[in-house]
Amino acid sequence: MSTVNIELFPLGRSLEVAPGTGLQAALYHLGVEFPCGGRGRCRGCRVKVLAGQLPVTDEDARMLGEERVAEGWRLACRHRAEAALQLEVAQWDASILSDDTPFQFVPAEGLGIAIDLGTTTVVGQLLDRQTGHVLGVQTGLNQQSRHGADIMSRIEFALAAENQGVLTTVIRQQLGQMVADLLGECGRSPAEVRLVTIAGNTAMHHLFGGLDVTPLAFDPFEPVNDGWLQLTSAELGWFDGQPVPVHFLPCLGGFVGSDILAGILATGMHEREEISVLVDLGTNGEMVIGNRERMLCASTAAGPAFEGARISSGMRAASGAISGVTVVDGQFQCQVIGGVSPRGVCGSGLVDAVAAGLDLGRILPSGRLPAGPNLPICSAVSLTQGDIRELQLAKGAIAAGLRLLADAWGTGLDQVARVYLAGAFGNYINRQSARRIGLLPWGAEKVIPAGNTSLLGAKLALFQMAQGEGEYQTLRARVRHVPLNEEARFHEVYAEQMTFPSV
Ligand code: FES
Repeated sequence: MSTVNIELFPLGRSLEVAPGTGLQAALYHLGVEFPCGGRGRCRGCRVKVLAGQLPVTDEDARMLGEERVAEGWRLACRHRAEAALQLEVAQWDASILSDDTPFQFVPAEGLGIAIDLGTTTVVGQLLDRQTGHVLGVQTGLNQQSRHGADIMSRIEFALAAENQGVLTTVIRQQLGQMVADLLGECGRSPAEVRLVTIAGNTAMHHLFGGLDVTPLAFDPFEPVNDGWLQLTSAELGWFDGQPVPVHFLPCLGGFVGSDILAGILATGMHEREEISVLVDLGTNGEMVIGNRERMLCASTAAGPAFEGARISSGMRAASGAISGVTVVDGQFQCQVIGGVSPRGVCGSGLVDAVAAGLDLGRILPSGRLPAGPNLPICSAVSLTQGDIRELQLAKGAIAAGLRLLADAWGTGLDQVARVYLAGAFGNYINRQSARRIGLLPWGAEKVIPAGNTSLLGAKLALFQMAQGEGEYQTLRARVRHVPLNEEARFHEVYAEQMTFPSV
């Protein structure tokens, strides 16, 4: 029997169904909710067609409006899969962190646009450089996601069939539309913009700049060019030909990108006498340790467990996700996003559930489940032995990286005075649970959720580069990259850090 393939983003899941299968039946099995029962009355099931065709229905037009329909949005409950489809599921949209941190600046002329280009999400802000006011914000999913959910699958796609140009075109067009929308919504003109700054990881830096990503796929994973990318809006096709400089901030080396360089500047850790740590907990864990005298950075492959991927009941932090777990009267008690029935667990819920399982003795420090292959955390959601192993891999990689980086700096982790957690996951993770599972070996009082430091750093660059060289150049020269993959003790320390603390 012939089948058609449906790919769902941003999680990158796919399924095969018989032609003509209703999307409600097909998607429900992957955890998509249909709040009004599929009657076309609530918009809760909306999906965006990324590839393929779903002809517009009357309900689509009435419930979503002309503009959204033109963008490709449809009500999944009113459609059938007649041929292959790629769909973005609105319910799975990642929570996208913007930034409203006050900051100091020297006024400059005109408008500036700062962009945080993440693997999953993209955020842009339009600023008045005289006042520092944020005039507009735009967010979205990185449209490269349809070609791979994480960095490595994106790089594999780029290499597989010489597709790199596709990814470069997609992201340049998306950001071009974003900057146009920012100006349009604020009624401002391209002629007023003096500078655009972008911060992002090394893969995004290369893909945006059109640089060869092949070296990022093979040991020693060193970038082909990790410096400033100085482009102009004219060569990118932005701003109707207005010549505006577009600067992608430089990487720090390996898989440590300008998002981390921006984070250093945003937290001010490079100006303090005390030792600080900055960590971005993601598929690729990036970290920095140091003070005003010297700084070291590294990256470590943590895998996707923190994003709820490769977990049997894993999902993004969306409606129905268990986002927190506590122990009440010797039992798990779950907090569920949206107050609906639980249908999966997101990264913060997974960390909490394992911490609670350790406290209850239902998970052993080795990671083994003593009472059988599954650990129910509520009636609908269980963790498997494989899920626990995925989390051990992720937390072991981060914990080992931190330990080796501290050793390389010549200090102990107990000497660290502050720990900044960058990014969305760092914002939501329970700090006590992170300590309980041995992910972060510090008390909650030392650990500071720092928000979107990448975007804040890109904003600071809008003002500093107006003054000349800017602090970025000198700061970058002070941060040394430590390639952990060349560290002889890495595997030994990694294996040690895979176990959970016994108390
Ligand atoms: S489930 Fe309500 S509109 Fe589709």
